[in-house]
Amino acid sequence: NHPMVFPNRVRFPKTRKRLPQTLIIGVRKCGTRALLEMLYLHPRIQKAGGEVHFFDRDENYLKGLEWYRKKMPHSFQGQITIEKSPSYFVSPEVPERVRAMNASIKLLLIVREPVTRAISDYTQLRSHAATAPLPLANSPHPQQQAYHLSTQSKFLGVQLENGDANDLSNNGHTSTGVGNTQTTSSAFPSASKSFEELAIFPNGTVNESYRPLIISMYHLHLHRWLEVFPREQLLVVNGDQLIEDPVSQLRRIENFLGIEHRINNMHFYFNETKGFYCLRYDSGDRCLRETKGRKHPHIDPLVVSKLRKFFAEHNQKFYELVGQDLGWPE
Ligand code: A3P
Repeated sequence: NHPMVFPNRVRFPKTRKRLPQTLIIGVRKCGTRALLEMLYLHPRIQKAGGEVHFFDRDENYLKGLEWYRKKMPHSFQGQITIEKSPSYFVSPEVPERVRAMNASIKLLLIVREPVTRAISDYTQLRSHAATAPLPLANSPHPQQQAYHLSTQSKFLGVQLENGDANDLSNNGHTSTGVGNTQTTSSAFPSASKSFEELAIFPNGTVNESYRPLIISMYHLHLHRWLEVFPREQLLVVNGDQLIEDPVSQLRRIENFLGIEHRINNMHFYFNETKGFYCLRYDSGDRCLRETKGRKHPHIDPLVVSKLRKFFAEHNQKFYELVGQDLGWPE
């Protein structure tokens, strides 16, 4: 029951490519990659390798749904395919386009305390991460992928027959995306400026048009999604808790997606050097790459507290929209 593996081309029996039934729509720097890789521990989950950017880039969207489907991994019947492109969250045209594909799609939105998120965003822009390769397991070796499908098929009770593996195609786990790195060149002229200089004007007021701050005003973006999708179709994942206690957040997601509780503490071990949990797959242990979990620069505490006060009102609006108080410090 082993798939036929050819260099860079695998097709596993009884699988086919399906459009995603779940999307991680954002928010960038809140743990979108960690979330996807953690969900991939579940035998019912398949993930698109890179960020496909189907809904937010016209040049992709115009290629149509068949193009998008081909970017998806092979999956067994009963599995859920997930794609994540964090820029979906902030792109105005995206919610309606997603609805046109599948009005009952499930949406995952991972958020973090907004000031920490903005600092993480700044750290990424400053580190010239645009040139960094894809983080962890985006494009596993075909053999590794086949192994994963093989263990999943056992869980799902899919009977495989020898000789099934003759229709060869790529399994969709190709590294076509750019992570959720931001490739805007405009990010770099400001690279030498400190976060404090970028976020606060010399007169002491908050620079409300600084993009890392705008992205952290979650309600501005989320309200567009909730005009198109009912609240029940969206789950807000707490990204700060995903760092501290991944299993509790994953459990909420398993409930939301209607899948068995399968991910547990055995799937994680804390890596002291990295300072984050790493993941234990059937095929081996893996940590996210060094672009995930960067050391942040020291930020003037007065600036942090000024920004936290500034965000209080925005956070309140977000809590009201989602009907949930995330308890972020003011
Ligand atoms: P920092 O690098 O600022 O710490 P995204 O994938 O959306 O870009 O999010 C990156 C963030 O994921 C990281 O931000 C990190 O805090 C968070 N994260 C959550 N769980 C993680 C894990 N197990 N390993 C590494 N990073 C993790």
